[in-house]
Amino acid sequence: MSTPTAPPRPLGVVTGASSGIGRALVDEFVGAGFDLIAVSDEDMTDDIARSGLGEHVRPLTADLATPSGNDDVVAALVADRRPVSAAVLNAGVGVHGRFDRADLADHLRVVGVNVVSPVWLAHHLLSGMVARGEGRLMVTSSIAADGPGPFQSTYAASKAFLSSFAQALRYEMRGAGVTVTSLEPGPTDTRFFARAKMEETWLARGPKADPATVAREGFAAMMAGKRRVVSGSKILKVQSIVTRRLPGAVSARFQAPLAKPRGDR
Ligand SMILES: NC(=O)c1ccc[n+]([C@@H]2O[C@H](COP(=O)([O-])OP(=O)(O)OC[C@H]3O[C@@H](n4cnc5c(N)ncnc54)[C@H](OP(=O)(O)O)[C@@H]3O)[C@@H](O)[C@H]2O)c1
Repeated sequence: MSTPTAPPRPLGVVTGASSGIGRALVDEFVGAGFDLIAVSDEDMTDDIARSGLGEHVRPLTADLATPSGNDDVVAALVADRRPVSAAVLNAGVGVHGRFDRADLADHLRVVGVNVVSPVWLAHHLLSGMVARGEGRLMVTSSIAADGPGPFQSTYAASKAFLSSFAQALRYEMRGAGVTVTSLEPGPTDTRFFARAKMEETWLARGPKADPATVAREGFAAMMAGKRRVVSGSKILKVQSIVTRRLPGAVSARFQAPLAKPRGDR
């Protein structure tokens, strides 16, 4: 008598998997029975080995601000041959300060990681999902997408792009068996603010969500095929509803003090 073999584990992909929300998403995927390709800029091999997840998580190092980094991820997915059942395009960076005073290279890095890379990878991932008639895609946007973001202008605009992009893709995927979800966290306790040199701002010094909670809510929303999930406190959810209804000029006036650098006009 032949012994029954276990069904293969579905395959997931997370970008920006080395820290914060992305690292917590790794635990969500593995806990839900996925094998995972975990993409980050810094090598995660030691972290994955230490955490005992090596059997199910394959770390992939790629700089998603560059064309070669995105090419490498697509090539790795093609070489893997397994279909991707669920993917979260989560990698993101910020840049802080008045637009003309911050380095152009930093602004362009925001556009590369937060805008160009999700377009690049979503195109590859959705092509495969549509061909199979099933799949879950989520992008990590932000409540910064709700309106203009003075002193984080390119970051807020990149997140507005992502939220709009996700909604449009979701519409296009109707009937294809594929869902697209936008995860829109409020301030979350990760390395994000330090990396964007925003520690002295109101936003960074205010209350923050636990990245594990954000990842849990996001993963559940993606698997349930939801359109959008705002992750954070009740006050934050109300703030998001109000901000989305304000004219841009009014919203900019409210948002500016939250991200204004000390000593800036
Ligand atoms: N923290 C918040 O308050 C907040 C609020 C709303 C939305 N978000 C969004 O949540 C997402 C995750 O951010 P986080 O808060 O968890 O911050 P984080 O701890 O700084 O994590 C950012 C992740 O993105 C990766 N990444 C950055 N640049 C990359 C590049 N060029 N190539 C490949 N990977 C790159 C980082 O990898 P390495 O460590 O290897 O560089 C890291 O894994 C971002 O999209 C962010 O915009 C954050």
